[in-house]
Amino acid sequence: MLDINSIKDYKLFNADCFDKLKEIPDKSINLILCDPPYNLANYSTGNMNFSWRAEINNDVAEWDEKVLDPADLVQEFKRIIKPDGNIFIFTSYNLIGKYHEVFDPEFDTFQFMVWHKTNPIPNIRKSSFLNSCELIVCLWNKGHTWNFTKQNEMHNFIESPICMGSERLKNPKHPSQKPVKILEHIINIASNENDIVLDMFMGVGSTGAAALNLNRRFIGIELDKEYYNAAVKRLKAHKKSSAAISEKQYA
Ligand SMILES: C[S@@+](CC[C@H](N)C(=O)[O-])C[C@H]1O[C@@H](n2cnc3c(N)ncnc32)[C@H](O)[C@@H]1O
Repeated sequence: MLDINSIKDYKLFNADCFDKLKEIPDKSINLILCDPPYNLANYSTGNMNFSWRAEINNDVAEWDEKVLDPADLVQEFKRIIKPDGNIFIFTSYNLIGKYHEVFDPEFDTFQFMVWHKTNPIPNIRKSSFLNSCELIVCLWNKGHTWNFTKQNEMHNFIESPICMGSERLKNPKHPSQKPVKILEHIINIASNENDIVLDMFMGVGSTGAAALNLNRRFIGIELDKEYYNAAVKRLKAHKKSSAAISEKQYA
């Protein structure tokens, strides 16, 4: 079993989370914040090519080819989350019903948040809505940690651009890198300093970066070696820059 108390800041694994989760002790995680595959393979029309502009990335990522069944997550999530813990799961319209079906009977509360992307992929053919929203399943039991701020900051709706600029990793480029700002918003509400945040589909480590920014401890699991390596590099650099800041503070 993983010794959670020995984790000072973060611990990352290059593994299949369905194996690794078995090593996480019962009732040991304060916040599960994860972004599993969306099962969108059947809906993609592939990348879009145009003579007058750059290609638009609309292709399916390799991991989305493999079907993820939310039912496969329920029992392990229930086992490892602390009684006062919270669970947030990014997903899409096609899976929200499945998540509700299998998770709602197991937790006191099932809610959802909407992330409105202010700069979604344009609809060049102007034939449908822009795909500008993603959904986040929210789960907890009575007595959960909850840092309610002002009423107007607690809507289950959050707006931000997709991850871009210097925050967006270039090599490797992860097609669904999440903006740290969104993740920080959730971590702030649903955990306290020094708590353990777990993302078992961590990609290039965005949840880890947000957790460390807010002085939480982090466990990350990622199957793909290249994304895992990118997350390792990203969190190492984060640690270095935080150390430099605190040295400056106390100089
Ligand atoms: C939607 S992406 C997450 C992106 C992440 N939120 C970020 O900001 O970088 C899903 C990730 O889950 C990984 N993945 C898929 N199946 C997995 C498994 N069984 N165990 C661990 N990671 C897995 C994929 O390689 C992919 O990087």
